[in-house]
Amino acid sequence: MREDLTRRGFLGAAGAAVVAGVASEAALAAEGKEAPKGGPIKIIGLSCSPRKGKTTAAALQVCLDAAKAAGPNVETELVELAGLNIPVFDPAAPGSADFEKVAAKLTDPKVAGILVGTPVYFSGMSSLCKAFLDQCMACRKNNFALANKVAGVLAVGGVRNGGQELAIESVQAALLCQEMILVGDGRPTAHTGATLLNTGDDIGGDEFGLSTAKNLGRRVAEVALKMQGAAG
Ligand SMILES: Cc1cc2nc3c(=O)[nH]c(=O)nc-3n(C[C@H](O)[C@H](O)[C@H](O)COP(=O)(O)O)c2cc1C
Repeated sequence: MREDLTRRGFLGAAGAAVVAGVASEAALAAEGKEAPKGGPIKIIGLSCSPRKGKTTAAALQVCLDAAKAAGPNVETELVELAGLNIPVFDPAAPGSADFEKVAAKLTDPKVAGILVGTPVYFSGMSSLCKAFLDQCMACRKNNFALANKVAGVLAVGGVRNGGQELAIESVQAALLCQEMILVGDGRPTAHTGATLLNTGDDIGGDEFGLSTAKNLGRRVAEVALKMQGAAG
């Protein structure tokens, strides 16, 4: 992992030149949006489903679309762990080439927010999600390279009340160990995170769950933009 991916590097990038003018700031304020003070920020959606392009990825895309709409200069990217080699963490042989690639993306100083999505597996996160979060020991050891990035968590289950909130909370507990700044889904739903229901490999009919996904994506972006302003 690159040596320069440190908290100092992140804050330094966040404190870069002011790009938003006073007039556009006022216009954005009228819309209830935050003007970026330090250039574009990036929000990544990390899908921890072993199934590429399925409901966890679809729910994250809803979050990312809402994050993008939260203000100008918000870039987004969906990263899927499906098909990658993310081994169970072995302290004697940590990491993998695929993990290093994803970790480099996440720890990039331009990344101000990360949305972690997991399917609910027996009322918890997927084993792929747990393996990835355990491998993130490398980020912690690299001067807490994920520190001060804003994090939101999403879970998709096959049944309503299938353990979405338990899965979300266990992911959040691991992200706290990285000094990340956790947020839930924003108002008006405003709870732990985004909780979605998969019906026949489709989340389109889950009106409430989709609203939590939109509110989570918007909330991550708005707090990331606020943090950027504070650092700048
Ligand atoms: C091993 C396994 C365990 C599961 N356990 C639960 C569960 O406890 N609660 C729940 O609501 N859904 C459970 N499901 C259903 C998945 O969470 C659901 O299908 C989810 O949408 C899959 O995400 P994906 O479409 O991204 O693969 C389970 C699925 C599998 C394969």
